[in-house]
Amino acid sequence: MSAKRINLILAILIFYSIIKTNSRFEFTNLNCTAFDLRVGEFENCNLKSINRSYKYVSGKYKLNQIPLPRMKVNFIMWKRLNGYRPFLYNITADACKFVENPKSNPVLKYIFDSFSAYSNMNHSCPYTSDLIVERLPIGFMNLRVTEILPFPEGNYLFEFHFSRRKSIFASTQVYFTIS
Ligand SMILES: *[C@@H]1O[C@H](CO)[C@@H](O)[C@H](O)[C@H]1NC(C)=O
Ligand SMILES: *[C@@H]1O[C@H](CO)[C@@H](O)[C@H](O)[C@H]1NC(C)=O
Ligand SMILES: *[C@@H]1O[C@H](CO)[C@@H](O)[C@H](O)[C@H]1NC(C)=O
Ligand SMILES: *[C@@H]1O[C@H](CO)[C@@H](O)[C@H](O)[C@H]1NC(C)=O
Repeated sequence: MSAKRINLILAILIFYSIIKTNSRFEFTNLNCTAFDLRVGEFENCNLKSINRSYKYVSGKYKLNQIPLPRMKVNFIMWKRLNGYRPFLYNITADACKFVENPKSNPVLKYIFDSFSAYSNMNHSCPYTSDLIVERLPIGFMNLRVTEILPFPEGNYLFEFHFSRRKSIFASTQVYFTIS
């Protein structure tokens, strides 16, 4: 069987048969790194806990170059088995083409829709102001992963690399658990 077909079967199994209706989403860690300060830098990137039920994620990437250059976004999904292993997705897309036509990439669209309402990024290029994610609540993520697209239990890492001319200028790692 081809790798593609195995991948497809795996995806179907995971997303449609191992559905848990009472699963819970938790952000466990965040890591934002700027590699090229000429492009920009992270002013913050954190997980705040107000109380047991209200937790949120905020981040701000300050542009040192305006507009933000055209960039590629590489998304890799990891799942912890014995250490984190690549899991299902390793996708690269042109960010400007994607925001102009999110339907072109359903996986990235799912992720983008998970935070864009809490950000100032839902518009077409160019990006001329600092990129902000403001108080993305865990409750919202919980709804998305448990009702819209159920994931199986486990520890996950969503990793994003942002690059221009094949050189990575920033990365973000979002760790979360579904239990
Ligand atoms: C954060 O990400 C950077 C870049 O990928 C990596 O070098 C660093 O070790 C990470 N830090 C933590 C605490 O995981
Ligand atoms: C948690 O904090 C939010 C925001 O301050 C508040 O609206 C909510 O009532 C609090 N929940 C509990 C259980 O204290
Ligand atoms: C993701 O895909 C790129 C391009 O095909 C490849 O170079 C890279 O090694 C892959 N990363 C992982 C973690 O599989
Ligand atoms: C993003 O923008 C598009 C087009 O303007 C709009 O249809 C969509 O509802 C917006 N999404 C969010 C989460 O605001």
